[in-house]
Amino acid sequence: MSKIQEALRRLQKGGGQPPKTHGADATLTHRRLPESVIPIVRKKKIAIDGEKFHLDESQLIRRGLLAPLDHAIPVADEFRRIKRPLIDNATKHSEKHEDHMNLILVASACPGAGKTFCSVNLAASISLERELNVLLVDADVAKPHISDAFGLSDRRGLIDILEDETISIAEVLVRTDLNDIQVLPAGRKHNQSTELLASERMEEVMHELATRYADRLIVLDSPPLLVTSEAQVLATQVGQIALVVETGKTTNQDIQEALELLDRDKAINLILNKSLYSQTNGYYGGRYGYGTYGFNEDQ
Ligand SMILES: Nc1ncnc2c1ncn2[C@@H]1O[C@H](COP(=O)(O)OP(=O)(O)OP(=O)(O)O)[C@@H](O)[C@H]1O
Ligand SMILES: [Mg+2]
Repeated sequence: MSKIQEALRRLQKGGGQPPKTHGADATLTHRRLPESVIPIVRKKKIAIDGEKFHLDESQLIRRGLLAPLDHAIPVADEFRRIKRPLIDNATKHSEKHEDHMNLILVASACPGAGKTFCSVNLAASISLERELNVLLVDADVAKPHISDAFGLSDRRGLIDILEDETISIAEVLVRTDLNDIQVLPAGRKHNQSTELLASERMEEVMHELATRYADRLIVLDSPPLLVTSEAQVLATQVGQIALVVETGKTTNQDIQEALELLDRDKAINLILNKSLYSQTNGYYGGRYGYGTYGFNEDQ
């Protein structure tokens, strides 16, 4: 049994620590309402400290994108556990994984596993760190869920800076009033987005993001690995990958196929999402498991 399979087996059982892992399992609860009753986030820019873009936290929670940050809510606690090894990897700069370790791609094998949910909550949790800033990149340029939900779909973003080299990253970053999280929107739709993401300009942009601000962690929400080629291209640019596994849906074969598309020298992290379901007074529950690996079987 491979290390990944063994770790998954343990995560799914919810017991014990997989080998070479950090973090732990915990129960989460967060309230979700039917999509039909959820109002759209208002596109409102308000003057808080000048230029911060307003995000309505309660609406993001109701849309199922954000779990409450209150420490008493287990999901927030769980993301505290999930972020820790990612932060450690990014800040320690171990020799093997030092390249772009502050760039974290949130990926999955198949659609709907919870990448966007995990990206937003991970970013929100990292933003609570005193010494760290966080940049959330909507790198799912074909299905820009974050840009849409945040009310940033009409903004310039990643695709624009890739296409037009005269546009700087700083020009398109959006600073929000949600814990000061910065967002790089997906930008305009482009029929050659895969080529743009695979371009030299993309390498430059990612390198600039990785090196310019040493105190910044960059969380990238990606499309699914087995459905598009874009996620695979994005994975080459980052030091860390958080692979979201959807309990009961993502099969071991899906995971293996997804892993085969990734560079085994990257730090591969697993997030087991939606692994417990319970309902009490309109609350949904889930369970996260987490493991981080040097994926190389020879290690
Ligand atoms: N832990 C969780 N508990 C409850 N609901 C969740 C959880 N994680 C994700 N969801 C819900 O599952 C749905 C899919 O999540 P999300 O959009 O984050 O997936 P995705 O992997 O980004 O999908 P896509 O591949 O389409 O981009 C959303 O309605 C989200 O609110
Ligand atoms: Mg998504």
